[in-house]
Amino acid sequence: MVNRIPEDKIAEIKNSADIVEIISDAVQLKKAGRNYLGLCPFHNEKTPSFSVSPDKQIFHCFGCGVGGNVFTFLMKQEGFSFPEAARMLAGRYGVVIPPPQLSPEQHQQLKFREDLLNVNREAMQYFRHALMNSRAGQGALQYLLKRGLTEAAIDQFNLGYTPDGWDNLLIFMKKKGVAATLVEKSGLVVPRKSRSGYYDRFRNRIIFPIFAQSGQVIGFGGRVMDDGLPKYLNSPETPLYHKSRSLYGLHNARNQCRLRESVFIVEGYFDLIALHQNGVTNAVATLGTALTVEHVKLLRGYIGQNGKVMLVYDSDEAGIKAAQRSIAVFDNAFVNAQILVLPEGHDPDSFIQSNGIDEFHAAAAKASSAIEFLLESAIAQYGLSIDGKLRVISELLKPLAAVNDGVARSLHAKLIAERLNIDEEAIVEKLNQYLKRPRPSERGSGQLAADKLIANRPGAGSIRMERRLITMMLQFPEINPEIEAQGVLDYFENQELQTIGMAILRCFDQTGRESSPASGKDQSWISTVVDAVETELQSQLTHLANTDDSWSLDGSRKLIAQFLSGRQNIRSSQTLETQIRAAEQNNDERLLEKLLIEKYKLAVRKSRQNAAMQEDN
Ligand code: CTP
Ligand code: MN
Repeated sequence: MVNRIPEDKIAEIKNSADIVEIISDAVQLKKAGRNYLGLCPFHNEKTPSFSVSPDKQIFHCFGCGVGGNVFTFLMKQEGFSFPEAARMLAGRYGVVIPPPQLSPEQHQQLKFREDLLNVNREAMQYFRHALMNSRAGQGALQYLLKRGLTEAAIDQFNLGYTPDGWDNLLIFMKKKGVAATLVEKSGLVVPRKSRSGYYDRFRNRIIFPIFAQSGQVIGFGGRVMDDGLPKYLNSPETPLYHKSRSLYGLHNARNQCRLRESVFIVEGYFDLIALHQNGVTNAVATLGTALTVEHVKLLRGYIGQNGKVMLVYDSDEAGIKAAQRSIAVFDNAFVNAQILVLPEGHDPDSFIQSNGIDEFHAAAAKASSAIEFLLESAIAQYGLSIDGKLRVISELLKPLAAVNDGVARSLHAKLIAERLNIDEEAIVEKLNQYLKRPRPSERGSGQLAADKLIANRPGAGSIRMERRLITMMLQFPEINPEIEAQGVLDYFENQELQTIGMAILRCFDQTGRESSPASGKDQSWISTVVDAVETELQSQLTHLANTDDSWSLDGSRKLIAQFLSGRQNIRSSQTLETQIRAAEQNNDERLLEKLLIEKYKLAVRKSRQNAAMQEDN
């Protein structure tokens, strides 16, 4: 945030750096036509399928599918972050990055954050000292050891203790010269109600510091050591600590999450530590709150778009509720979420203590996908009679409707249909009705969602069309103004391809417009597009950029027209059907007649287009 490299400098770096030169440091490249070929450094291979294009300034492996630009290469190969890669290249190619210029407000804000972080760091050290080196902390240390924590874990997670009393921390901070008003901002002390002054929030508790992913202490949790209430006390929301965005243990887990492309999500502090000290180091905890969209986003950054999420819940009932909630949170990405429900009365900590980590892994291996989990729970509840099946379906409509991605949704519909042994179409139809039901307050775009669902039904074939369009936009950028003018991307079903398409249009406006049509050959703007999309999409993008296709203006316009008329037909027939049904219900014979004629015309138009398309192929 602070040391952001200015955009123009990024552009300068990109223009100066040579991808062939940089990759040659790590991979032996041989010239092959316009490109260079070598053995892919990202997977094992004997014949070279790793291609580097000096024109486009991108790389792509036809074996394993990875691809990107010079930044991506350094990030993947050397584990650099984007700014690190940029700085490295700046150094190598002599681009000078000016030190950041902060406004007075920014400067003050930064200083305030640093001061707060400092308060937290001092407090953590105080708590640690009290646990490890004070008489009063002996009981607390015994408590932790008795609960099975290893000394290494206590150390790794920087656990601490706060002695009994109302002002231990206050006095400590005063000695350190920290203003009480600042300590209040950290949430560690609370203003007294009746008189002036403050008191310690945490008293006679075990302390769990909560770290940001970067490793800075942003908050604390405190547990009583007896049956006192509340069992846990946590930092309030502060400028540093936001419950809905924080995940306990992420700082320790992030590298493993990245490596294993998966994460275990548990609820509690002890659960998290139990997993980590038993080698399950790709685990984080939500600290009792529900999983949020922000949590999922954060985790996706580490595990990747297709990474696996294992939600571990205590009991059946809590598990069902949590699964229902998490499906809404995961949106289209919950396809890879699994639910692991532990036997009644167990949480991960107690389960591992009594059954061992191997049993835990065995249970995890048997975990079901989120939708299967809901399906099986509903079947268990309602049975498989005709009436039961109807109830099961209606129970699953809501979570199913929450899935944004059309492909994922139809895969799930299929799964449900197979398990219930009914026709898939029947479920899709029910789902349509559900999406279309008039509930304007809740679903402003119900009709749109329904349209989308229908439009998604053509499936694989239509995605192929979208892929071809993207390839065309990259390889024949002259067409991009027309793509934009006709709103072609609005009709895309596949969200990833749509995102890529929008990035292409943005970059084309900025850089591609001058370079590509005039010179005809300069394709290095594609490397800018790579930067403009998220890491997860880069390989898909470079793959499409490398597809062998040849384009002409005529052919391109034909493809656009074909695509648009197909999509528009689907949409207008959907709208028509709705209007026809409404007219039927209102007994509006004249309108009905008019609509039916339109429907007929549309059908004729469609079959003509189909015939024309077949002639073309
Ligand atoms: N929690 C909380 N405030 C509470 C109770 C719970 O913030 N009053 C959070 C804590 O992060 C806790 C998690 O919810 O770790 C799960 O709660 P619970 O299952 O009650 O506690 P455990 O983690 O099992 O704690 P312990 O094993 O120490 O009893
Ligand atoms: Mn517990």
